[in-house]
Parts: sequence; C-alpha cells; structure tokens
Amino acid sequence: MTTPTVTITDNITGKTSECPVLVPTYGPRVIDTKDLYKDLGMFTHDPGFMTTSACRSSITYLDGDEGKLFHRGYPIEQLAEHSSYLEVCYLLLYGELPTRTQFEEFEYQVKFRSNVHERVNHMYSGYMYDAHPMSIMVGVMGALSSYYHEALDLKDPVDRDLTAKRVIAKMPTLAAQCYKYAIGHPFVYPNNSLGYVENFLNMMFSHPMSTYIPDPVAVRALEVMLILHADHEQNASTSTVRLAGSAGANPFACIAAGMVTLWGPAHGGANEAVLHMLNEIKTPENIPKFIARAKDKNDTFRLMGFGHRVYKNFDPRSRVIRKVCHDLLGHMPANVNTRLFDTAMTLEEIAVKDEYFIERKLYPNVDFYSGIILKALGIPESMFTVMFGLGRAVGWIAQWLEMMQDPDFRIGRPRQLYVGSRQRDYVPIEQRG
Ligand code: SDX
Repeated sequence: MTTPTVTITDNITGKTSECPVLVPTYGPRVIDTKDLYKDLGMFTHDPGFMTTSACRSSITYLDGDEGKLFHRGYPIEQLAEHSSYLEVCYLLLYGELPTRTQFEEFEYQVKFRSNVHERVNHMYSGYMYDAHPMSIMVGVMGALSSYYHEALDLKDPVDRDLTAKRVIAKMPTLAAQCYKYAIGHPFVYPNNSLGYVENFLNMMFSHPMSTYIPDPVAVRALEVMLILHADHEQNASTSTVRLAGSAGANPFACIAAGMVTLWGPAHGGANEAVLHMLNEIKTPENIPKFIARAKDKNDTFRLMGFGHRVYKNFDPRSRVIRKVCHDLLGHMPANVNTRLFDTAMTLEEIAVKDEYFIERKLYPNVDFYSGIILKALGIPESMFTVMFGLGRAVGWIAQWLEMMQDPDFRIGRPRQLYVGSRQRDYVPIEQRG
C-alpha cells in the first residue's frame, strides 16, 4: 500500500516537498510538515493554531462538526451518566476503566494525599482579602513545586505517577482553602471518610459552628460537572501545560501555568463572565437589547457562554450539563430567587433560534450552564474558574504524563512570520530628530 503523502510545490522555485500524511483513528488526516523548512526553506503559518496538530494523543477525541467527545474511546454522555469523577481520572491517566480493586487502590492513593503541608496554609495571608481566587490558586499550586523535591525526577515514571495523584488529590483542598480565605472562615481539613466530591463540598461549606450534610442532588450535579470539564483535547490551557512541560519545568508549576491560561474570559473565565453578563442583563425583558449588542460589530460585547473554537455543532457536554442544570433548578427550595436562572433560560431559548447565532454555529457551550449550576450550588462567581480548573486538573496532568513519555518529546518552539524593520544601523541620540 502506498504511503499517503501530499506534495507541496513552491511555484516560484519549482522545488517540492513530499510531506507524509498521518492517518488518525478518528478526525482529519494530518500533513507532517516537519521537513518543509529543509525542503523548501518555508514555515507554515497558522495564527491561533486553527488547523495545526501540535502532538499525537490518545486521551481525548472531539468532533466539532458532529458534536462528539470521547475520553479513551468512551462517549462523554456515557461517562457522565455511569461514571464518577475519580474513575474518569483513572481512565484519563491509565487509558482503561479500572477494575474494582484497581479503583479502590487508586481512590486510597488519592485520599491519602489530599492534605497539604501546614506551611501552605500560611501562604494565603499574603493575599489581599478580596484577591481573585484564581490569583491565589496560581500561587499556591506553583508553590507545591517547593514541597516535593524527593519526587521530582521527571525521568522516573513512578515519580511522574505520584505527582499526578498529588495534583488530583490536592486540587480540591487548595480550591476550598481559597474560598474559605475569601470569606474569612477557618480552613476545613480533608475528611478521608468522604467521597471525592462530598469531601470537597465539606471543605467548602462546613464550619466549626454547625454540621454540613451535602445534598445528594448537589453532589451528583457537581460530580457530572467535574467529569464534563476533565479534559478537552489541546485547548489553550492544556497547550500551555504541554509547552511549559516540554521545557522540563516542574509539573506543579506547569499546572499553575495552565491555571493562568484558563483564567482568561475567552476560555475558562467564561463561566464567571456568563454570570456577570446575566447580572448585567438583569431581566428577560432586556435580552433583545443585549442580543443586538452581540451582533453589533462596533460593540465588543459578546454573549458569554456561546460559541466555541471547535464545536460548530452543539457542544456534547452542553447537552448533558443542560439537563443537570434544569434538574438542579427544579430541585431548588421555593424561596430561592430564580430571576437570574429565568433570564438564562430565556436567553438560551432566544439565541438558539436567532439567525445570527445559527449561521455562525454559536450554540450555548459548557460554560453557559456550568455558571448557573455553580450559582445554584451556592458557589460564588469568583470561584467559578477555580471550579473549572478543579475539573480540568486531571486533563492537564494526564496530557503532561502523555507528553513526558512521547517518543517525539522535544521542547516546543514555534517559529513566526517576521514583518518588522529591515536591518538598519544604530543612530546616537544626539542625531535623532
Ligand atoms: C471554553 O478550546 C476548548 O476546548 C475550550 C473549552 C474547554 O473545555 O477547554 O471548551 C472551554 O473555553 C469554551 C468557550 C468559552 N468562551 C466563551 O463562552 C466566550 C464567548 N465565546 C467567544 O469568545 C468565542 O466564541 C470563542 C472564543 C469561544 C471562539 O472564538 P472563535 O472560534 O475564534 O470564533 P470567532 O471569534 O472567529 O467568531 C466567529 C464569528 C465572529 O463573527 P463574524 O466576524 O463572522 O461576523 O462569530 C462571532 C464573531 O464575532 N462570535 C460571537 C461569539 N463568538 C463568536 N458573537 C457573539 N457572541 C459570541 N459569544
């Protein structure tokens, strides 16, 4: 069978480059252009990496046109319905669903590492009382790199695996501590008798003055949310973790770098931006005015929670999380003010029928619903992106692990299209105009 190739010809010099075509399990075939510079003296140019494959991966596959998302081959809908976040963590890390024995051992390994060194607790006091929790998360996650010297031989798969478990285990503790610091409540230690999500909610909402019993509906809603946010191929924050990791940086620092990228409102900051937008819209009656602003090219306003770089169909996660959102809203006590939720549901209804959004395939994405769920769970808007990072931490560290054992592993170093000044000589300041 002939090796599939693509011939690229420079019509100025007549030179050609025979580029191998790489065939995936699913998705578009990929042109391997690594010899293009050698053959033609040219780079490829793809700002925003719209059509660039940065790596070989077997963790997640998403089809933007078909609205499909698989983790290690398992459809996200099935994982959200039947699995748990910790089981999905095992699947992303090791490639297979665990046997009961494997899962129990993994769960113990994670629980056993859920606490952080006491000195980490003193780090928070260095932050302003009203610091954005993401500014704290970036700091404390990066600081963990100073606590685990004995397990940072990145060439040792055992150390890499231990680091992955530590990241998954400590993220809930750090996230809850950020919240407690912000509201001036004492930190709550992890309780190893609780499940992963219950333990997180307990660290968030229990305090010495009363006993906290997590609502099973809330626990399941958060479990599904974390599963839906676990990994998403080579998104901006995951690409940041890979690029930092490709230089051999400390893995905790790489996760902190991913956290920085996730903070952007065009990425993980969108769920918080959705709530700010809903608060600005205030009531369903104001929606037409904001829809008009979203269409106005002279207005920078965009509908937060709508659109996606890859999904030009409904985000499959949105279908799942939309049901969780509606179920949770239906479960809320009668006295809860649902104005915000009514505005969100009306906005969703109007936007999905609007030609502008249909034409541009701008559907509600996972962030549109996750903000509403988190609000309904009593989690403040400032913590929304932290919650996204809590779910995505396993995706970041799983992709880092995969990169560290990739035979093609090398430092990432993109090139550029230089459009600056031509060579010129220095002019002493006395001679400048
Ligand atoms: C996440 O990569 C991932 O996988 C990300 C993520 C993950 O799990 O990691 O899925 C999580 O980041 C989800 C996206 C969350 N962001 C938002 O909800 C912010 C609002 N959305 C937009 O900023 C935007 O849709 C992006 C950034 C998500 C995608 O931008 P693209 O693909 O670069 O699209 P574009 O900017 O080229 O827009 C195409 C057209 C433009 O109009 P025209 O110039 O063609 O007339 O659609 C318009 C845009 O103006 N448009 C919007 C819009 N998003 C795009 N118009 C109004 N509201 C919007 N939200």
